[in-house]
Amino acid sequence: MSKSKKHAKAPVLRSQAWFNGGNRDDFVHRSWMKNQGFPHDLFIGKPVIGICNTWSEVTPCNAHFRELAEHIKAGVLEAGGFPLEFPAMSLGEPVMRPTAMLFRNLASMDVEESIRANPFDGIVLMMGCDKTTPALLMGAASCDLPTIGVSGGPMLNGKYHGTDVGSGTLVWQMTAKLKTGEWKEEDMVEAEACQSRSAGHCMTMGTASTMASMVESLGMGLPGNAAIPAVDARRKVLCRMAGRRIVEMVREDLRISKILTREAFENAIMVNGAIGGSTNAVVHLLAIAGRIGVKMTLDDWDRLGRDIPCLVNLMPSGKYLMEDFYYAGGVPAVVRQLERFLNRKALTVNGRTIWENCRKAPNFNEDVITPIDKPFKAHGGIAVLRGNLAPGGAVLKPSAATPKLMRHKGRAVVFTDIDDLHRRIDDPKLDVKADDVLVLQNCGPKGYPGFPEVGNFALPAKLLKKGVTDMVRISDARMSGTAYGTVVLHTSPEAAVGGPLALVRTGDLIELDVAKRRLVLHVSDEELAKRRKAWKPPKPHSKRGWVKLYCDTVQQADEGVDLDFLVGGSGASVGRPSH
Ligand code: FES
Repeated sequence: MSKSKKHAKAPVLRSQAWFNGGNRDDFVHRSWMKNQGFPHDLFIGKPVIGICNTWSEVTPCNAHFRELAEHIKAGVLEAGGFPLEFPAMSLGEPVMRPTAMLFRNLASMDVEESIRANPFDGIVLMMGCDKTTPALLMGAASCDLPTIGVSGGPMLNGKYHGTDVGSGTLVWQMTAKLKTGEWKEEDMVEAEACQSRSAGHCMTMGTASTMASMVESLGMGLPGNAAIPAVDARRKVLCRMAGRRIVEMVREDLRISKILTREAFENAIMVNGAIGGSTNAVVHLLAIAGRIGVKMTLDDWDRLGRDIPCLVNLMPSGKYLMEDFYYAGGVPAVVRQLERFLNRKALTVNGRTIWENCRKAPNFNEDVITPIDKPFKAHGGIAVLRGNLAPGGAVLKPSAATPKLMRHKGRAVVFTDIDDLHRRIDDPKLDVKADDVLVLQNCGPKGYPGFPEVGNFALPAKLLKKGVTDMVRISDARMSGTAYGTVVLHTSPEAAVGGPLALVRTGDLIELDVAKRRLVLHVSDEELAKRRKAWKPPKPHSKRGWVKLYCDTVQQADEGVDLDFLVGGSGASVGRPSH
């Protein structure tokens, strides 16, 4: 599988500091492990591979990981390694409150410290639901051992009354239909089972599929990693091959820092544009880059993605789903078309460059993966907006927006927080028109807290009933990767730290111009200074525990929303003995 087998000298295995010796500590380390039935020879001279598993019944997207882990273990054993599986905090996007994103950095700390404290020489990361992917990559990047990513794969296409329905995307459509009365509760209950009918993560090009595609385009996963459906037998084969390959990577000392280079991040940003990927990838890639010491900024996203057309016709921007994407050729078929943009020499985990992996990748369906000279949409990248309303930047996904709203001036209708929004948005007396700009404050990293996916909030019921399908919406929140609309997100600095978003009042004029990358609040500097003086920070969410630590140290959206003291890495040197 690998081309680079010719490393003269195998690296010293850090696991041997635990297992290969004749003193009391070695006895303790081996003896207790032997209660699981491991023969003695497994401990001596074999690469020990930690399999970081985010299996959990409250992370339904990862609930099939126990079986996949067995295939990874089989691959490790076949290649002469010693697999040891360990759990990491699992983040279930559809279940956790107030938002799984509040815990991404906590999970990354768990992963980092679990890797460093244990006798691992190489790591397999088992990732699926949205936040599990960045959390595991961030933690592993801060340790810098040989590491390979394995994604759990998307669900099979949802099927409802003879049509394909996409996870998440159906939720937003249904919310509107419930508000207009087109659907009743029983329609909703039936659709729940139709949408999620197999193991796997969301099968739209939402955040999970985007991040799995990022794993592949960063070079952190084997070719095919992103799109093979969770229940396709080829997903098991991929797991087995990843298990074999990580043992070779340890022998080659192919560490994560050799894969996660600036070139790799640039490739991932370009692939994100071509797949019409989620805006959430912006925040996650900035955070992962911060851990591995690659300087990336929001401007890299705009610069690198600007000329990349959207090639992949998947929901929420298009009509197909991940199963179709896999049958059409998946990420390799997309990468092949980006030849003139790519850093072709970027190394991947199989020891080959990204171009060597993808240069002959076939495209079996040009309706799903369109040719680059006849793209599905002309603009696929993420637009980074700036102006006096977002001095630190804000993002918008042009491929999911309504073209005629991408240049728009309108009157602000302001909601001061999520409770205010829920209280008033559907009030028939709400003073709102279709060409107004809806503004939601205090939903950023510190404000909510946790930076939730509420930026794509549903339109006022009275406008939906009149047939309005989209309006410009601005917030300091994120939006689900499965969502769509002309939605300005990640406005930075956020309202809760006194960013200009906090100063907007109903009736102000706001101008959005995506082509010019502008987001302007038409209020004089003098008036804004007056409002700033009168502004009071919101009360702290908690005086103790994780929420306090998070709110005290979390960075803003344009920096990746990592905790300030977690940026960078500490390596994986072997700690002092415990006995
Ligand atoms: Fe887990 Fe969408 S809810 S991937």
